Amino acid sequence: MAPREVEPHLFVIMGGSGALARRKLLPAVWQLAAQGSLTAKSIILATARRRHLDDESYRQWAREALAAAGLPADETCTHWCDECLHYHALGEEGPEDFQALRSRIEALERQHDLPGNRVFYLAIPPASLPLAVEGLGAAGLHRAPGWTRIVVEKPFGHDLESANELDRLLKRYFSEEQTYRIDHYLGKEAVQNLLVFRFANPVFESLWSRDRIASVQITVAETAGIEDRAAFYDGVGALRDMVQNHMMQLLTLVAMEIPASFEADAIRNEKAKVLQAVAPIRQQGVCFGQYVVGEIDGIGVPGYLDAAGVQPASSTETFVALELNINNWRWQGVPFYLRTGKRLAKSTRQIVVNFRCPVLSVFDRYPDAAVSANSLVITLEPDEGFELEFVVKAPGDMLTLQPQRLRFRYDEVFGRLPEAYEALLLDILTGDQTLFVRIDEVLAAWRLLTPLLEMRPRPYPYAAGTWGPREADSLLAPVGGVCWLNW
Ligand SMILES: NC(=O)c1ccc[n+]([C@@H]2O[C@H](COP(=O)([O-])OP(=O)(O)OC[C@H]3O[C@@H](n4cnc5c(N)ncnc54)[C@H](OP(=O)(O)O)[C@@H]3O)[C@@H](O)[C@H]2O)c1
Repeated sequence: MAPREVEPHLFVIMGGSGALARRKLLPAVWQLAAQGSLTAKSIILATARRRHLDDESYRQWAREALAAAGLPADETCTHWCDECLHYHALGEEGPEDFQALRSRIEALERQHDLPGNRVFYLAIPPASLPLAVEGLGAAGLHRAPGWTRIVVEKPFGHDLESANELDRLLKRYFSEEQTYRIDHYLGKEAVQNLLVFRFANPVFESLWSRDRIASVQITVAETAGIEDRAAFYDGVGALRDMVQNHMMQLLTLVAMEIPASFEADAIRNEKAKVLQAVAPIRQQGVCFGQYVVGEIDGIGVPGYLDAAGVQPASSTETFVALELNINNWRWQGVPFYLRTGKRLAKSTRQIVVNFRCPVLSVFDRYPDAAVSANSLVITLEPDEGFELEFVVKAPGDMLTLQPQRLRFRYDEVFGRLPEAYEALLLDILTGDQTLFVRIDEVLAAWRLLTPLLEMRPRPYPYAAGTWGPREADSLLAPVGGVCWLNW
C-alpha cells in the first residue's frame, strides 16, 4: 500500500521532557521516520518549563530514550536527532513566554523552510492544560499560515463539569476539526480490527445482537500497582483512569451500529449513539475494590494504602466492576460487564462475547453430553487474537461433548504489530480523526459516570494477585451459570 502523504510540518511537544515523550512519542516518531512513513520534512520542537535543557542536551536525552526503548541508537538515529530535534525552555508560562515560543516556532519554520503546518501535542499533566491552551491561544498560535492541530491526552476533565469547562476553553481557540483527543488504546491494531472483524465478516455480524448474545464482558486487568504515580492516581481511581475512556471506547466498538461509511464522523456518530443509549447505572450494578497485601507471581506485594504518597485512609478504588445496559433494539436485555483493576492476577485486555445456550438440548439423555454456550474471546493484549469456543464430540463409543477452541493469533501471522502511538501520530499528521474521541463521546461517558463518582461506593478489599473482590462475582448473577472469564 502506498504510504499516506504527510505534509511538511512542525511537531511541537509540550511536555517534551516527560515520561510520555520519552517512552512513547519520541520512539514512535523515530520509527515513523526510519520506516519512511514521514513522506515530508518533519521537525520536532520539544518544550517544557524548566531551563535545564538546550538543543544539544535534549538530543542526547532523546538518543538515550530511544536506546532505552530498544531502538538502535546508530548513526542514522544520531543524524535524525541532530537534524530534526530542537528544544525550547518555556519558562514560567507568562504571556511573554508564549510570545517567545511563537518566535522560536517561526524561526524554525524559516530555518527549515516549512509552510506553517503545526501540531501542538499537549503531553503535560491535566492540571497544566488550561494554562497551556490559554497561553497558545493568547499568543495567536491557534492560527498559522498552514493547518494547526492540537492533541489532548486523556483524561479529558475529571468529571462532567470540568470536561465541559476544558471543552469551552479549547473551543475559544480551536475547532473540533483541529482537536485530537487521544486515547492510545484506539491505536492498537487489535482494537482497530474490532471494526473489521464486525463489519467485514457477515457471519459474525448476523449473530451480533440480543437474539444470539447473552452477555458481554470487557476486562482490562493489570498486575502492576500504582508504581510511583500516587500523586496522580490517589483521588482519581480506576473509574476515571480506565473506565471513562478506554473501557467506554471498547464498549462503543463492540456495540455500535454499522456506520454509513468508514469516514471518521460516520464512525464517531455511531459510537456516540451507544453511549447516549446506556441506561443510568444502578447502584447494585457497581462494585469498587481496593487491593491489600498479597502476592504477584509468588512475590509478596504491599497493599494500596502502603504505597508511598497514598493518603492513610484513602478510599480511592483500584478496582471497578460495572453492569451496563444499552437501551436500543440491538442490545435490550443484554448486560455488558466491565471490569478493571490494578494488582490483579494477570495483565490482560479482553472482550468475551457469551452466546446464548440452545433453547433445547437433544443430547439430554447422555450424561457426558451437557451442551454449553459458545463464546468468542477477543484478546487485545497481550497475544492479540481471537478464540472461538465451540463444542465437539470426543472420539469414542460414548457420546461425550467437549469444548474446544479455534484460535487466531496476530503475531503468528503478521509478526511485530506497530505501536499504537505510531498509528495515531500518522493519523494526526494526515488529518484523520477516526481514532480520536469526539467531544460528544467524552461528555456522554462523563454523564454516565459522574453520578457514580458522587455516590463513591466504599471499596471492598481484595488481595493483590487475585481477580478482585468476591463481591464483583454477584454482579453476574442475573446471567446464571456465567462467571468472569479469568484467563
Ligand atoms: N507516561 C505515559 O506513559 C502516559 C501514557 C498515556 C497518557 N499519558 C498522559 O500524558 C500526559 C503527560 O504525562 P507524563 O507521564 O509524560 O508526565 P510527566 O512525566 O510528569 O511529564 C510532564 C511533562 O510536562 C512538562 N510540563 C508540566 N507542566 C507543563 C506546562 N504547564 N507547560 C509545558 N510543559 C509542562 C514537564 O516538564 P516541566 O516540569 O519542566 O515543565 C514534563 O516535560 C498526562 O496527561 C498523562 O496522563 C502519559
